Amino acid sequence: MKTTLRSFILAALGILAAQSTLAQSERQPRAKGIESPGYVWNTPDKDLNRALDYKASAKRGLVAYKICRGCHLPDGYGKPEVLYPQIAGQHASVTLKQMMDIRAGRRDNPAMAPFVGDWIVTVEELADIAAHIKSLPPPANNQKGDGKNLAKGKALYDKDCASCHGANGEGDHKKFYPMVAHQHYGYLVRETRESRDQGRRNASPDMVKVLKGYSDADVEAVSDYMSRLSLAKK
Ligand code: HEC
Ligand code: HEC
Repeated sequence: MKTTLRSFILAALGILAAQSTLAQSERQPRAKGIESPGYVWNTPDKDLNRALDYKASAKRGLVAYKICRGCHLPDGYGKPEVLYPQIAGQHASVTLKQMMDIRAGRRDNPAMAPFVGDWIVTVEELADIAAHIKSLPPPANNQKGDGKNLAKGKALYDKDCASCHGANGEGDHKKFYPMVAHQHYGYLVRETRESRDQGRRNASPDMVKVLKGYSDADVEAVSDYMSRLSLAKK
């Protein structure tokens, strides 16, 4: 009798949980982004600071990463054919900022938002997942461009991008600057263009300023060059 009652209560709770998940995941919240006057990039975020202060474990993160595997794949490679980014080896600070931005609605990502909501994962689990992602080796066989304008791409990158993203595309953990080496070409093009056009709402205004004069051909050339940067020891 006792067991029956218990399973009944558990089943009822399960239904409630499923319903609230559905209700909350219908759409992503929306917060102010670069289109809003007075937008400041990377303002202090309570959850982000909590995640960064937490003693994260890549081992626990491997288990929690199961929510992400379907789209980003077990090795973090993503799906370049549908513009799902590769995330293996990314700085934990960058991964966490992106996840908190998607959670809060500072970066639009309706496909992923239901999987990072606070009704699915805790801040601590996100920190563990970010540590696991950082521990994955970035792929050498990421998608590249056509290789036709690499000299132009290199000149643009060294002049306009390397100061933040690093000479080898390594990014900067402390400053929340993403590693861009090993990223898929198509995704780099899309994010660079979207940042230029203010479609990536959590973009850095300093980067947007630099991109102002960029034509689509410039974006493609610099993205092709970035897709060939490698952090592998020579
Ligand atoms: C339903 C598919 C899906 C799932 C599940 C998913 N993601 Fe994503 N993720 C995406 C897509 C699509 C993007 C690219 C968003 C864009 O176009 O701006 C993305 C972007 C990201 C980014 C930003 C990468 C960058 O360099 O800009 C990070 C970090 C990330 N995902 C981590 C995760 C983690 C961690 C999980 C699990 C908790 C997860 N994702 C679950 C689809 C998914
Ligand atoms: C002032 C520093 C700065 C400069 C200069 C800069 N960026 Fe960025 N870039 C950033 C920051 C910060 C982000 C992450 C924004 C965020 O928080 O989502 C970013 C994100 C990106 C992304 C998306 C990466 C990802 O994983 O989501 C691409 C692609 C990119 N930058 C390309 C470029 C290119 C190309 C140039 C040169 C033309 C450039 N950046 C110059 C700071 C900079």
